[in-house]
Order: sequence, then C-alpha cells, then structure tokens
Amino acid sequence: MLSWDDEVKPTPAQPQPGLQPAVQPRAAAQQDVALDPALMAKPVAAADTARRMDAADKRVINGQTDVNQLVPFKYKWAWDKYLAGCANHWMPQEINMQRDIELWKNPNGLTEDERRIVKRNLGFFVTADSLAANNIVLGTYRHITAPECRQYLLRQAFEEAIHTHAYQYIVESLGLDEGEIFNAYNEIKSIHDKDQFLIPFIDVLTDPEFKTGTLESDQTLLRSLIVFACLMEGLFFYVGFAQILALGRQNKMMGAAEQYQYILRDESMHCNFGIDLINTIKLENPHLWTPQFKDEIKSLFLRAVELEYRYAEDTMPRGVLGLNAPMFKGYLRFIANRRAQQIGLEPMFEQEENPFPWMSEMIDLKKERNFFETRVIEYQTGGALNWE
Ligand SMILES: [Fe+2]
Ligand SMILES: [Fe+2]
Repeated sequence: MLSWDDEVKPTPAQPQPGLQPAVQPRAAAQQDVALDPALMAKPVAAADTARRMDAADKRVINGQTDVNQLVPFKYKWAWDKYLAGCANHWMPQEINMQRDIELWKNPNGLTEDERRIVKRNLGFFVTADSLAANNIVLGTYRHITAPECRQYLLRQAFEEAIHTHAYQYIVESLGLDEGEIFNAYNEIKSIHDKDQFLIPFIDVLTDPEFKTGTLESDQTLLRSLIVFACLMEGLFFYVGFAQILALGRQNKMMGAAEQYQYILRDESMHCNFGIDLINTIKLENPHLWTPQFKDEIKSLFLRAVELEYRYAEDTMPRGVLGLNAPMFKGYLRFIANRRAQQIGLEPMFEQEENPFPWMSEMIDLKKERNFFETRVIEYQTGGALNWE
C-alpha cells in the first residue's frame, strides 16, 4: 500500500525484443517544441480581450456565452443555493439506526399498517432519487447554458446520490427484502403509476436528438422542468415525507425519520432552485408562456395530485399515526396551489388550509423562499435538526 510519504519512483521501461520505440525520446521531443516558433505563445490581441464574456449576455437556455466561465456572475441566486447546499452537507451513515433496527425486529414494535408505510415509502424513494439524478445528469444539465445553474445542478446531482444512499442504508439496516423494495416501482401500482407519469418528461430531455432553440423544444424543456421541480420534487415526495416524519413525531423509526428530515431539507432547496430556474426562463423567454401552455401545465398538476392521492390511499388503507388518506387530499391541494402560485399560475383549488402545520414547521413551507419572493434566504448550516 502506498503512503503519502513514500518516494515515488518511475517504473522502468521494459524493453521488448524486436519492437522499436514508436515515439522519440521525451527530452528530444520537448526540445523540438520549445524551439518551434510557430508553437510559441503569442501576445493576446486587443480583439481577443474585447471578446471577453459580458455577464449580461448569459442566458439560462440557448445562451451563446462560454459555459466554462462561472464568473462574472449573472445568476447569483443559483450560486447562493450552491453554497447553501454545500453548507448543509450530510451523510447517511452519520445517523444512528440502532433504535430503528430494534423496533423493526421487535414483533410488537410497529403495527402492520406502520410497517406497510415504511416499506411503501422506501419502495417509491429507492428508485425515485435515481430517476432524479439521471434526469439532471443525462437530461437537464446539458440544456442549461448558465454556468451558475450548472454548478448548482452538479451539487444537486450529488445530493440525489446521497438520498439514494440513505434509502439503501435504511433498507440494509432493517434487513428488508431488497428485491421487493427495489422492484416496487415495477410491482406496486400506485408507485408504478407515479413513475410512469414522470418518465416521459425525463426521457425527452435525455434523448440525444433533443435540442432546444425552437418554440416547441423550449416549451418541452420548460414543461419537463416544471414537472420535475413542482410535481416530482415538490409534490410526489410529500405524502411519503409526512408519513415518515409522523412516525418520528411518535418516537418511532427516529433514525429513518432523521434521514428523511435531512432529505426533505435538501429537496426543499431543489424545489426552490427549480422554481427560480423556471421563473428565470419565463422572464428571458416570455413567448413560451402561452395560454395553451398554461392550460396544459394545469392539467398536469391535476393529474399529479390525483396520482399522489391514490398513493396516499394505497399506503394508508386505514387511519394510522393520526393520519388518513382524506387528510392528504387537502394537503396535496394546499401544496399544489402553492407550487402553482410560485410559477405564476392561479391557485387550482378552493382555498385549502394546511392540515399538517407541523410539516410546515419542519420543512418549512412557510419559510420557503425563492428568488422571486425575496433575496433573503435563511439556511441551517449542518448540525442537528430540531424535532420541536
Ligand atoms: Fe432527492
Ligand atoms: Fe431532489
């Protein structure tokens, strides 16, 4: 094994009989380059410095500026979220799962309905965050031309990896059947239907033939970004989060609940970043926001609320933990209204109150801030989360 203090010695070349070296010895080649006036560095021409990037020319989509130059900043909100994401860094194995393991293995530790919630939850999330990561890395990233936004997406992609790691860590800690949990998105209808709703919006961005630059393709990208931020990260995660956090509030599965709380904090930021991204694209490309496009987005919201409600019914066939499926109808409408308003749409449902104010205190929906509401953003920086 190598240590940092070991002296590094070059591996001696092994001459092979009958083979001539294909290249000149290195020293001779370097000397040739140094002497070749055609390869000498030239002074920078005035015209080159005049072409230096102007931040005002940056665009979130279809930009023509150099994506390798992070600064000068134009989208400072994206850079600030990148810094906040880094300040919130955590790893799943930092959380002690011992009490969860004991509770899970105790035949009287949890009711069957509570066990169903845990397994269904993990069944959705173990693959959902891989879908999210693939959507960012293979899809969204290459279509975004603002380097500040790309920087955040790189951080977000890593956080999605941490989330998949966290769910896998819970599955492994509890000794669950991996085949059952990781195949739930194929085998459990309420989970399968949610993923089938999402996948076409991911596939279109990961198609190597897909390019932005026309009204139709730019609307396609915007539609996928809205589905991903507002409906996947902003709505489809919330029944599951509320259920596991409700367990935690009753001192059950505290380790899993703590993992979920860290994930929820990250997802809240992902959702806010996505909403800022969407609103900036709208500002830069107002022609995309047509009445027909808005109607289409509204119908996607309604469909997503329906799918998430069916998931609530499937995971809670009876009342459990003081929760029941009908309570989630109001909760999902409340969240959907909020997401709609965040991207400039009218609320879709009659004024809905939040039936789970304790969720707002944890996430926090009330404290959510995005660039278009205020520039002042308060973040927790590491440290323990508070259950009070
Ligand atoms: Fe995630
Ligand atoms: Fe996310």
